[in-house]
Amino acid sequence: MIFNRRNFIRSASAIAAFTLNEMQALAAKHTIAQKGRVISDDDEAYWSNVRQLFPLSKEWTYLNNGTFGPSPYPVIEAMRTSQMDADMYGNYGAYDSTPPKIARFVGADHDEIALTHNVTEGINLACWGVPLSKGDEVILTTHEHVGNMMPWMNRQKLHGIVIKKYTPAHTAHETLNRINALITKNTRVIATPHIPCTQGQVLPVKEICQLARDKGIFSLIDGAHGSGMMPLDLHDMGCDTYASCSHKWMLGPKGTGYLYVRKEFQDTVQAFYMGGGTDDGKWDLMTNPVTTGDYAHSAHRYFGGTQANGLYTGVNAAIDFIESIGIENIHNRIKSLGKYTQDRLLEFDGKVELLTPTEERSRCAVNGFRIKGVDYHKFFDLCGEHKIRIRAVPENGIDCLRVSTHIYNNKDEVDKMIALIKKSI
Ligand SMILES: Cc1ncc(COP(=O)(O)O)c(C=O)c1O
Repeated sequence: MIFNRRNFIRSASAIAAFTLNEMQALAAKHTIAQKGRVISDDDEAYWSNVRQLFPLSKEWTYLNNGTFGPSPYPVIEAMRTSQMDADMYGNYGAYDSTPPKIARFVGADHDEIALTHNVTEGINLACWGVPLSKGDEVILTTHEHVGNMMPWMNRQKLHGIVIKKYTPAHTAHETLNRINALITKNTRVIATPHIPCTQGQVLPVKEICQLARDKGIFSLIDGAHGSGMMPLDLHDMGCDTYASCSHKWMLGPKGTGYLYVRKEFQDTVQAFYMGGGTDDGKWDLMTNPVTTGDYAHSAHRYFGGTQANGLYTGVNAAIDFIESIGIENIHNRIKSLGKYTQDRLLEFDGKVELLTPTEERSRCAVNGFRIKGVDYHKFFDLCGEHKIRIRAVPENGIDCLRVSTHIYNNKDEVDKMIALIKKSI
């Protein structure tokens, strides 16, 4: 159901579950629709209206969008009404509209998007689908999240593939050199994050995919942080597969994601799970012998069975919400908050080590840092005591702190964390 004020009021009175805050926030929704207008990244009045659309507790400073993005009321409402629709009338299948909608949002074709429940699932589908034999090499970073580390490590354990690693450098140019240096005649896959979970550096994925393609190497991009943080054009990026989610920067329902598989690669990435929707309609149990047909002529071959109406309607609503503000406007705002965070951290004159590059193309809305002489866990706990939510990063011994800023944040909230650093050193 398309959300508008009239049907909101109707459903609100039917469900009788809305608070005054929610009502006010929904009224604010009408003031944020920008209809193609450029919103300045420092138009604080506009962005504070946007903030009102989130049920985020006012007691907490939420600087951890990198773990998950809180949904705004219109998304929550869309989920609720869609779920009610299923429970009251037995309607189902609302999720059929989601792959084409995601495809348009990320610059793909409708038949290149498989629905998943998270990034991990998408990566596993791609990782297991690529034919690999003993001795084949896969390139990862030293900054992997377990979601893009364990699937490949499991293939090492079970199939004897060889994992090679590079550490992202402070410039895109040097990062590319490091990847190039790892490539051998046995390299089959480059599986790299678009934006690592550790310090949020934006990696030069377009050049990485070009490099892979030039050498006949399969590219998998772990796009956990890409969708919703910046405009995406996956065709232009040139990746073979891109695994992402709606529950971080897209501000959508938790437990929703997608896997993009480039059309020409769908016969290479093997489908293993079969069921409702994964076939071409020509499979027949009743013939003798049993007939197996082809897979669905789309990425639907990678997901089958019942999906959650409410969740995927929420994904559609999250895309509508982002587009009502404009993804370019969002990107500019959060990139400027990221830069503000970097500038404040750099003012500590070496007492704070900023791990994220300052290079323009390599930074956006997530920053990683260490405070010299202060245990990162201790600072993380201190933030918790002051109701500031950030993320501690123990991954691969990196042992740092991570702060992420989205459209509901402002500079004052970053300053609160900066004040705590001042107190700690
Ligand atoms: C870079 C990266 N990859 C993969 C994942 C796993 O995502 P999910 O929990 O959606 O499976 C995360 C989660 O934080 C991540 O940051």
